[in-house]
Amino acid sequence: MKNIDKESIEKAYQLFDSGDIEKIETGTTNGLQEIHKYLFDGLYDFAGKVRNHNISKGGFRFATALYLKEALLVVEQMPECTFEEIIEKYVEMNIAHPFMEGNGRTMRIWLDMLLKKRIKKVVNWQFIDKQLYLQAMERSPINTLELRTLLFAHLTEEINNREIIFKGIEQSYYYEGYKKED
Ligand SMILES: Nc1ncnc2c1ncn2[C@@H]1O[C@H](COP(=O)(O)OP(=O)(O)O)[C@@H](O)[C@H]1O
Ligand SMILES: [Mg+2]
Repeated sequence: MKNIDKESIEKAYQLFDSGDIEKIETGTTNGLQEIHKYLFDGLYDFAGKVRNHNISKGGFRFATALYLKEALLVVEQMPECTFEEIIEKYVEMNIAHPFMEGNGRTMRIWLDMLLKKRIKKVVNWQFIDKQLYLQAMERSPINTLELRTLLFAHLTEEINNREIIFKGIEQSYYYEGYKKED
């Protein structure tokens, strides 16, 4: 595990252990930026900052930097009452991909905070296979069914279970290629 990621995962644990997560706005761009800043402050000079370069992954081009701020205003106004609406919003936020790096890890925490607030559930990430998840994310700009099915099957009502949250953080970092050393 690279040093940045090792330090960042500690910050992610701290975000929950300190209770600071409760102070972060849910469902907004500002809240997403706050989480990003928390995870990567002192590690990336762009921590908490919206990118101004274009980026793509696996042939998919994320929102054009030139219109990113406008796109984010639209995304944060999307409805978020039901599970389906929250997933649509998450998918659009992923298409926006506001940061140069760290979007996946930041957005999964942002998603869980939305689910927790609105439907009193969170995703039990530890049981979601990396390959299946990344495939569903790649597919999501075209069709969200795969992602909805995968996440819906792994919702839990144990929203304040520290072990579930921490294992979820580890899984989230593992999706991005970082494995916790024992
Ligand atoms: N081809 C793709 N199309 C849409 N989303 C993708 C694609 N590839 C990866 N993703 C999403 O982007 C995330 C990775 O973004 P990134 O900014 O690198 O985050 P992190 O640094 O936390 O790894 C993945 O977790 C996935 O959700
Ligand atoms: Mg990455």
